[in-house]
Amino acid sequence: MTNFLITGGAGFIGHHLAKYLLGMDEKVTIYDSFSDYYSPYLKWRNARDVEDLGGTIVEGNILSKKQLVKAIHKNKIETVIHLAAQPGVRYSTENPEMALRINVEGTSNVLSVSRENDVRKAVITSSSSVFGATQYMPMDEEHSTEPISFYGVSKLTSEKLVTVCNHLYPEFDTTILRPFTVVGARQRPDMAINIFISRVLNRETINIFGNGNQTRDWTHVGNIVQAFHLAATMPKAKHQIFNVGAGTRISVNEVLAIVAEVTDIEPILEYSEMNKADVKDTFADIGKAKRLLGYHPKKTIYDAVEDFTQYWEDVNYGKLLASEKLIEREFSSAEIFSP
Ligand SMILES: NC(=O)c1ccc[n+]([C@@H]2O[C@H](COP(=O)([O-])OP(=O)(O)OC[C@H]3O[C@@H](n4cnc5c(N)ncnc54)[C@H](O)[C@@H]3O)[C@@H](O)[C@H]2O)c1
Repeated sequence: MTNFLITGGAGFIGHHLAKYLLGMDEKVTIYDSFSDYYSPYLKWRNARDVEDLGGTIVEGNILSKKQLVKAIHKNKIETVIHLAAQPGVRYSTENPEMALRINVEGTSNVLSVSRENDVRKAVITSSSSVFGATQYMPMDEEHSTEPISFYGVSKLTSEKLVTVCNHLYPEFDTTILRPFTVVGARQRPDMAINIFISRVLNRETINIFGNGNQTRDWTHVGNIVQAFHLAATMPKAKHQIFNVGAGTRISVNEVLAIVAEVTDIEPILEYSEMNKADVKDTFADIGKAKRLLGYHPKKTIYDAVEDFTQYWEDVNYGKLLASEKLIEREFSSAEIFSP
């Protein structure tokens, strides 16, 4: 049994990963600031589910080394999986300083605190946004990295911090994962599948940036959590970078057709100009992850659309958001650090 700390563990990917690791009899502490980029209530809800399965919640900020050290010591952490971030490609256009501070300074803190406090392994989350304009497809790990968003720059810079760390401290075991568009239940409210399904179920118009022919490697979160577990445990992962996608490329229009089929509602669409910070296509070459990690994604975008629709209906998502201010944070074992 390994003691894991998941930064950003109350978020979309983080809480799925926490549940997956707990299901494998690992010990899990989630470390999250419950930032208000989107509803903290949704994050507390995720965290409460992790706690119900035996995980520990720590409210802490990756910008505070002191809080990180305390969480690592108190929970005897052996492996850190770093997911906490300021996400959002478009948000980073308006708020570059947020992306840079949290994703660069925060990652630097996570790396140095982990290394200096006997953590054996750190898995750092980058993004397919580091690539920028597509030079060829599918994109392998050697594809040029010329980000076209501040978010992409922040993730590429965090990768460089890991590279320097590997050079200076070769004994410290790190791995970088670059997830491609992650989809599934509880996806962030700023992401396409969440927006498409929520709007369709509310009979609202969906605004599509571009003509809908742009493609993504939509990756079910169930595949991604496996990749994180493999990256954290396979010796061959040491000091490596992996692209983690589904290894398929599906257009926005094709996804909208899946949404229509699953919900049995025809979407109302409106098209506008493509956002300059968005890349046209992404398509992961996952050969390296298959070879070195034994990563074999099985779940599809269709599964993700079904899962999100089911989740939306189960929790009555629209009403839940409207009533979020009324919900108190209640955690029996939560540790609340002062800011
Ligand atoms: N979702 C995707 O498609 C995708 C794709 C590529 C990479 N990623 C990366 O995966 C990671 C998780 O993404 P997600 O979609 O689950 O996002 P998310 O916003 O749901 O999760 C991120 C979590 O980090 C927490 N956080 C933010 N700032 C923090 C801080 N200063 N200290 C501590 N916690 C903080 C947030 O409260 C949130 O719970 C991020 O690093 C993101 O950049 C996501």
